[in-house]
Amino acid sequence: MNLQQLKDTAAAMVAPGRGILAMDESHPTCNKRFEKLGIPTTEEKRQEYRHMLLKENEMGQFIGGAILFDETIRQQTLDGQPFAERLQQIGIVPGIKVDQGAKELALHPGEKVTEGLDGLRDRLKEYYELGARFAKWRAVITIGPDIPSQACLVANAHALARYAALCQETDIVPIVEPEVLMDGSHTIERSYEVTHAIQKCVFEHLKEQGVAWEGMVLKPNMVVSGYDCAERADVQQVAEATVRCLRATVPLEVPGIAFLSGGQTDEEATSHLNAMNQLGQNLPWALTFSYGRALQQAAMQAWNGDSANIDRAARVILHRARMNGAAAKGRYSTEMEQAA
Ligand code: G3H
Repeated sequence: MNLQQLKDTAAAMVAPGRGILAMDESHPTCNKRFEKLGIPTTEEKRQEYRHMLLKENEMGQFIGGAILFDETIRQQTLDGQPFAERLQQIGIVPGIKVDQGAKELALHPGEKVTEGLDGLRDRLKEYYELGARFAKWRAVITIGPDIPSQACLVANAHALARYAALCQETDIVPIVEPEVLMDGSHTIERSYEVTHAIQKCVFEHLKEQGVAWEGMVLKPNMVVSGYDCAERADVQQVAEATVRCLRATVPLEVPGIAFLSGGQTDEEATSHLNAMNQLGQNLPWALTFSYGRALQQAAMQAWNGDSANIDRAARVILHRARMNGAAAKGRYSTEMEQAA
């Protein structure tokens, strides 16, 4: 393990005013989003779409790392350049999703555990050769009347820690993603309780596996009320609860925390991140974004599967990247949306 290399990679991923573009949707997820807009679910369309996302050179000013899916890291842009090379050209660190999805957890109805550890060491070596310098593994925790169970927390935390250790052994920075879903009618207090429990459990397991804090990035959910909660917490409450939870669980040496958007609207996700960075709490880690939907959804609509729309759609995602880059510095305001 080359700790200096891991530190340098992590620092580049979460450099000031930069975040991570999650463009690693699996085929079923990507196809579902295309189908909603009537876009053909072909390999060529996925390639064109991802070409569009990285078309603007300026993306590198706001994006420090981009997470690719297996298909994309083996593909080329429409100009014939491998995607990993295109990312390096515009100053973005290439990353790769390596988990193989969340599957039903045996004997625990309604709960999931993420799979993908078998053969991971060899897959990581191959991805390193293909240019990846960081990876992502997502665990999914559902809130319900009697869940999550301790069994679910431990199974997912253990898998995340095994994955993270394998990554660091290969000089790949692990993004550790324990996602507490926003689905349900739970309150922000319940969201805090579950988020705190999984993060605490994850850091205990990471420690046990010997993972170096300096060479990893945490990708958590924000502490928000469930989608169907009768009284949803406001932006300030979300920012305060999320930072309080992180202070209680995340070691000071972790270089960066990059949030998932989890189904928030574009502006909600940007405003929440901005509010956290405006709390003025002199935080030890960079607080930034690693959004999928909240960066991509407007651009996907603008493109709509038509190559004639590539240039316009590429400017749409550049705008969202710029807004979130500002939020990562606590310098975003909704007027900036209107001005654009
Ligand atoms: O693993 C989850 C994705 O990388 C982030 O997606 O921002 O749409 O929740 P999201």
